[in-house]
Amino acid sequence: PRRVGILTAGGDSPGLNAAIRGFGKTAIAHYGMELFGFRDGVTGLVENRYVELDGKALSGILTVGGTILGTSRDKVHRYVVDGEPQDMVPRVVENYRALGLDALIMLGGGGTAKNAMRLVDAGLNVVHLPKTIDNDIAETDTTFGFATATEIATEAVDRVHSTAHSHHRIILTEIMGHRAGWLTLAAGIAGGADIILIPEIPYTIESVAETIKQRTARGSSFSVVAVAEGARDVDDTADYEAAQLLVKSAKTPEARRAAKTHLKHVEDAQREHSFKLARELEAATGLESRVTILGYVQRGGAPCAADRLLATRLGAAAADLVQRGEFGVMVAARGDEAVPVPLADVAGKVKLVPTDHAWIAAARQVGTGLGD
Ligand code: F6P
Repeated sequence: PRRVGILTAGGDSPGLNAAIRGFGKTAIAHYGMELFGFRDGVTGLVENRYVELDGKALSGILTVGGTILGTSRDKVHRYVVDGEPQDMVPRVVENYRALGLDALIMLGGGGTAKNAMRLVDAGLNVVHLPKTIDNDIAETDTTFGFATATEIATEAVDRVHSTAHSHHRIILTEIMGHRAGWLTLAAGIAGGADIILIPEIPYTIESVAETIKQRTARGSSFSVVAVAEGARDVDDTADYEAAQLLVKSAKTPEARRAAKTHLKHVEDAQREHSFKLARELEAATGLESRVTILGYVQRGGAPCAADRLLATRLGAAAADLVQRGEFGVMVAARGDEAVPVPLADVAGKVKLVPTDHAWIAAARQVGTGLGD
């Protein structure tokens, strides 16, 4: 029988277990394959830590949050050993061959797609499945985890309204999404936020304060702001983009290292931006301002029905691809179809919210401030 490895990598996301189950049940029961689960993402792949997964191991996990296999953010080509990054691609190839694998299924986001691409380039048969609550993977309509996180963040935006209007406060609800604003935009619209701030639309404090003052003038002396973790004002955006450009244009490894260190400083300095924004809004509007950071609550717990369905069908489709011998691809969701797309079209790309997206138009139409 064909032998297949599977792992989950990057931040955990609701639906990972549903996808492992979708793949595993199809692979084992339908196609008669043998399945091995690597522990803790790339770490287990490098350290050769795995368990054989049978039908019993896949039973009862559809609704369970997190990942039964564990996860990590380790990189195959810069795997840190004693503080030093090492290229572990040859080690992974060795482990893959020693176990006699015919394919490797990698469940993860943008970072995992890059790892997967490196293993494809090294000659391994890889299929990638798109998971992330951020919904920022190229070439796919959506990713599993996003729908559940949207439900959770929507409820949070909805619930903070009680305190905001009772206490006449501004409440900033910080939602995950370090690069893309999909989750904040979706939850902001669905939760009825008065202002939505996303990385794709740099804000000015004046514009945000003006929206709040207009609300107060109309008799609503409170405001709920849905703010993405990666949202920035115009000045911070300029600093951040300049630092990113330095990394991209660095000509030598030393220059690249220095530019990366600088970028990290800029990112660190901007990390607490929700608190800074709250202080500035309080000063500009005279309304008491508070911050609620949703954090890992957004990634926790059982996947919603939409994510269970998506993860199951993408997982099952990945097993079909292994059976057909189609590798070097990500299984993309395109409407009701699961479509293989070359990993080369996905790795290193980020799907941002286009500023002419229908959700942005709808937010503007219902009078939501976008900070610009
Ligand atoms: O990868 C998705 C994400 O939700 C990002 O939006 C966020 O920056 C990141 O995870 C944080 O995760 P961790 O703390 O696990 O690195």
